[in-house]
Amino acid sequence: MITDTAAFDMRRHDSPFTRPMRLSCSPITRALAQEAHLHPYGLAYSLPPMTNDAPIPLAPDGPSPSVPPLWGRVQVSADPHEAAEALGSDLIEQAHACVASMGDFHLALSGGSTPFPFYQSLMTDPMYRRLPWDRTHLWIVDERRVPFDHPKSNWRQIHEIIVDHSGIPPAQAHAIEAMEQDAAVRYERALRTAFSRRAVTEQRLDFVLLGMGDNGHTASLFPQTAALRERKLLVCDCDGPTVTPPARVTMTYPLLNAARFVAVLALGSEKAPMIHRVATGSDDFTVLPIKNIRPSGTLVWHLDRASAAPPNG
Ligand code: 6PG
Repeated sequence: MITDTAAFDMRRHDSPFTRPMRLSCSPITRALAQEAHLHPYGLAYSLPPMTNDAPIPLAPDGPSPSVPPLWGRVQVSADPHEAAEALGSDLIEQAHACVASMGDFHLALSGGSTPFPFYQSLMTDPMYRRLPWDRTHLWIVDERRVPFDHPKSNWRQIHEIIVDHSGIPPAQAHAIEAMEQDAAVRYERALRTAFSRRAVTEQRLDFVLLGMGDNGHTASLFPQTAALRERKLLVCDCDGPTVTPPARVTMTYPLLNAARFVAVLALGSEKAPMIHRVATGSDDFTVLPIKNIRPSGTLVWHLDRASAAPPNG
């Protein structure tokens, strides 16, 4: 089961090879048939330790930060830079494990603004040279219905930062064709085709990076929209009065919650009130859509001290 542990991690460098890791092996079809749920992992194994890459424990400076009582693992880093490093360690660990066991790695990234410094660091920080881009399928969690060259296109930014520089094979970089009327249908087809090369039990996204809007939306799952009720499709449209324009195409709960590993990156003091409300309030997912992110795999919240701070804290 997912352990509801809350941890404060001040490690500056956390080797991806020193922690035991777990892989979920239940099929995506099971997730499609169920609403948000938790269930046991299938497979657990460890990669061999690397002797010259041990974590460097640091004494926390100042009082321990508060850890919001969210579900899943909560990792509060000292600042955005350390939060990005912790997220990067998770990414390297998962990528190598998936390539080792299945030969490829399905990675889905979000837009918004928070993750872009992290995306930049993936291309520039030597720590990430080991990422197996040649074996990675890159997906986008959601897209705005604008042309690729529009400033609001999530893919445009991800393409400029990652696709152009990572060496990922073009056929493995999967944009949502946002201006096509049936964009969601096309993307679902692309996902199912790519997944079909795997054993049925492994047909899922391996790593999903989500953000959180200040109204509690995640991906392009906005409050009070029909997209929140989707239980069958992997990708759907999302529009309506609560959607920040333009209209969107988004991965759905069934696809996101079937993922092997989901990381939510929420940084900065402007995220703090919503983190607190999500962690302690009684609103349900129709009001705060991020509350239905309950993956069958691992969920990690990557916060910094500012976003984790309690009100008046
Ligand atoms: C999008 C997103 C969205 C985003 C949040 C947080 O395309 O808008 O994928 O879900 O992650 O709105 O956005 P910020 O990082 O800009 O706060």
